[in-house]
Amino acid sequence: MEVIIEKNVDDVIERTYKFIRNLTEKKRHPVIGLPSGRTPILLYKKLVEENKKGNIDLESVIFFALDEFYGADDSWSFSTKKYFYDHLINNTNISPENFYFINGSTENLKEECRRYEEKIKDVGGIDLQILGIGEDGHIGFNEVGSSLNSRTRIKILNDTSKKFLAEEFGGLDNVPDVCITMGIGTILEAKRILLLAYGKSKAKAIKECVEGPVTSSFPASALQLHADVKIVIDEEAASLLKSKDYYRRAFELSRKFPDIY
Ligand code: GLP
Repeated sequence: MEVIIEKNVDDVIERTYKFIRNLTEKKRHPVIGLPSGRTPILLYKKLVEENKKGNIDLESVIFFALDEFYGADDSWSFSTKKYFYDHLINNTNISPENFYFINGSTENLKEECRRYEEKIKDVGGIDLQILGIGEDGHIGFNEVGSSLNSRTRIKILNDTSKKFLAEEFGGLDNVPDVCITMGIGTILEAKRILLLAYGKSKAKAIKECVEGPVTSSFPASALQLHADVKIVIDEEAASLLKSKDYYRRAFELSRKFPDIY
């Protein structure tokens, strides 16, 4: 894992944006997996701004949404699909046909999950998977206890996630119980992974993710098993890391080896 500690949120967003831009400059049809949630909204705002200025071309990029709520159809105002239309697709030159979603209103769940996995394979796999992290360590909707080898499937939201989503959904009763998410095994097959987090509320989760044991009780810890993961965080989110001084020094020195990084 490479832990990159930035001064503040803006720098976290800038760094993440640059990784995405570099990938779009290097590959004609890069494949990027994207999370929903509050954390990446600033990143998507940045992508919109830079795309408008002509600094990043998103037309030939292929995107995959990380998860979706079960039951979500096109009339749903809280679906992941709507989230990405609002925050990205409507305001950029992304080609909607290149943006893949899990169909939340499918009548055949098993088949839909299989289709999504197949689609990822068909385009050659995910080059860069961007992730956020839940305070309890979930990634996507892989809740605490998720198998580290899991594939795209349904998950039942736990109480922590439901409470967290209650505000957005206008009350706990409106939050769905069921969602569909790429599995941890699916995520670990991405060629590169970048997890971004900022703020004090994420400090404990980052500590467990980077320095805790690998355990399904803390799904993000599974990222330690991947060979190319970047954890891009601000000072607050880094505040509980035992080896943060080392991570800082390692990051500075490693930049001298541009062929590797
Ligand atoms: C949801 C999403 C995750 C996201 C997490 C944290 O559960 N499915 O992909 O990482 O929330 O959200 P936030 O960024 O709002 O803290």
